[in-house]
Amino acid sequence: MAVREFWLRWPTSTVLVLLLWCSFVRAQTCPKGCKCEGLSVTCANGLMQYVPPGIPINTTHLNFSNNSLTIIRNQTQLHNLPNLRTLSLWKNRIIAIEDGAFWGHSALKNLDLSYNDLRIVNRSAFRGLPGLNTLDLHGNPRLCLDFGSLGTLPNLQRLVLGYTNVIFIPGLFQTSSGNLNPPVGLLDLQLWEMGLLRIPYEAIKELPNLSELNMSQNKIKCIHHFAFTSNGNLTLLDLSSNPIAIVHSDAFEGLAKLSTLLLDNTNTLTMLPEGVFDPLPNGVKICLYGNKWNCDCHIKWLKSWTEEEGRVHCAQKPNCHTPSDLQGNPFFTVPKELFQCDGSVLNLPNVACYSDVKYTDGFCLELQQKHNIPMTTTTSSPSTDPITKKKVSTPTLSPTMHQSKIGFIVTGVSIMLIVILIVGVFIARQIRIQKKLHDQNKYFNISYENGDSQLQMAESPTPEKEKVFH
Ligand SMILES: *[C@@H]1O[C@H](CO)[C@@H](O)[C@H](O)[C@H]1NC(C)=O
Ligand SMILES: *[C@@H]1O[C@H](CO)[C@@H](O)[C@H](O)[C@H]1NC(C)=O
Ligand SMILES: *[C@@H]1O[C@H](CO)[C@@H](O)[C@H](O)[C@H]1NC(C)=O
Ligand SMILES: *[C@@H]1O[C@H](CO)[C@@H](O)[C@H](O)[C@H]1NC(C)=O
Ligand SMILES: *[C@@H]1O[C@H](CO)[C@@H](O)[C@H](O)[C@H]1NC(C)=O
Ligand SMILES: *[C@@H]1O[C@H](CO)[C@@H](O)[C@H](O)[C@H]1NC(C)=O
Ligand SMILES: *[C@@H]1O[C@H](CO)[C@@H](O)[C@H](O)[C@H]1NC(C)=O
Ligand SMILES: *[C@@H]1O[C@H](CO)[C@@H](O)[C@H](O)[C@H]1NC(C)=O
Repeated sequence: MAVREFWLRWPTSTVLVLLLWCSFVRAQTCPKGCKCEGLSVTCANGLMQYVPPGIPINTTHLNFSNNSLTIIRNQTQLHNLPNLRTLSLWKNRIIAIEDGAFWGHSALKNLDLSYNDLRIVNRSAFRGLPGLNTLDLHGNPRLCLDFGSLGTLPNLQRLVLGYTNVIFIPGLFQTSSGNLNPPVGLLDLQLWEMGLLRIPYEAIKELPNLSELNMSQNKIKCIHHFAFTSNGNLTLLDLSSNPIAIVHSDAFEGLAKLSTLLLDNTNTLTMLPEGVFDPLPNGVKICLYGNKWNCDCHIKWLKSWTEEEGRVHCAQKPNCHTPSDLQGNPFFTVPKELFQCDGSVLNLPNVACYSDVKYTDGFCLELQQKHNIPMTTTTSSPSTDPITKKKVSTPTLSPTMHQSKIGFIVTGVSIMLIVILIVGVFIARQIRIQKKLHDQNKYFNISYENGDSQLQMAESPTPEKEKVFH
């Protein structure tokens, strides 16, 4: 009878053990909060503070966008995913990338770090990514790239730095030994809305294969002589929405493959030197609207040029701004004869095209102190250095430690539960053998009681319960 009772209890424990085992297996195939489809894993739109353990090792695409990762550390779960090709960390709360954080990701092609709150990126931050093609850093308004931070990415093809605080410095493409190692295969450089005060000549002159360069919505006032002579493969050059006042006559020299030049919406441009477009190929499309064109003899050539056969026009046409009697009239409605000078000398605005700023190692740090860059809406407080301050740099535990700790706890608790179950079953069996010696009625009562408080009995049979037996 007692032996039968004992075996009747086994299914309960078996089911428990099975459940535990299943949860382990499940955790290994796909972590909670993630979706695993083949080699693509999406852990997006959560509040995850670190990449969870248990992502299949062969995963090639990890979408970890819209979470709460704050620091990308060297030595975390990411290191267990050596086959990653695409890593999307878009819209997290990342403020720092530790040196060597991406070490070992030689297969990674696309890295999206847009819409985070990155500050200083050190020269070792992107080490270990020799195959990276696309790096998207846009929407990090306080980002500062330090010396050599892009010198470790020789195969970059697309770099997006729009809406950041990056200042181009001559040593951006340096290696740690000080040699230049620019990404000569770079095709697409997105530099819009970064507060650029001038063309970042030191950087772009190293990029011979560049095809698309977007510098719209900056503060560039002057396009200097030979600004793009090293960029003969450019097809798209967007300089729109800059306060450009001066374009030097040789500014576009060498742009023999250009197909689109956007010079619209500067609100400042009044004239262009004759022949400035001569280096450009015939079919080039140039946008000139949204400027303060002074329709005098100095841009008579421009009117003629725009009306030459084969010119490609933008939907919006340039208008005269001055003289006042021509204001608001599109070029093509104003007869050529009216583009005339009254004899007064041409007064070009005095704009410094070059600035001789010397940058030294660690200039990012200087920059942050100097500008006292305003804080966006983040969790960090403005008065402390976000990277060194305790609150952020130690979010509870380091992610790695946190993860292994959870692992230990889960394993420990499971082992304890199993041991308790076995001991409980064993004790229950002993009790029932003893019971056999007592009368039937009592046996049933106590057996019932045992069933309810099995675990408690197993741990420490209380004196009261022992009393019941005798
Ligand atoms: C981000 O995730 C939250 C849920 O955690 C969701 O409400 C929100 O719409 C997501 N945002 C975007 C841009 O997907
Ligand atoms: C992971 O890839 C390796 C080699 O590329 C292969 O041997 C292994 O079976 C794959 N594992 C899984 C779980 O797909
Ligand atoms: C990642 O997931 C988000 C939310 O589901 C989605 O909007 C986004 O397009 C995905 N990104 C990639 C690269 O698949
Ligand atoms: C960047 O480099 C500086 C100086 O070498 C170091 O103190 C700092 O910890 C590094 N930052 C990160 C996020 O690793
Ligand atoms: C990453 O961390 C490991 C262990 O702390 C360290 O040995 C290694 O030098 C670090 N990598 C880099 C590139 O700093
Ligand atoms: C880029 O241009 C250089 C020379 O200007 C050339 O040698 C190299 O093959 C090009 N790289 C790519 C990836 O197109
Ligand atoms: C340049 O970047 C701005 C901002 O993202 C964008 O609106 C514009 O369309 C881009 N220009 C071209 C020609 O793609
Ligand atoms: C254009 O790119 C090709 C390779 O893509 C390169 O060989 C060539 O030097 C570049 N042309 C110029 C004018 O830089």
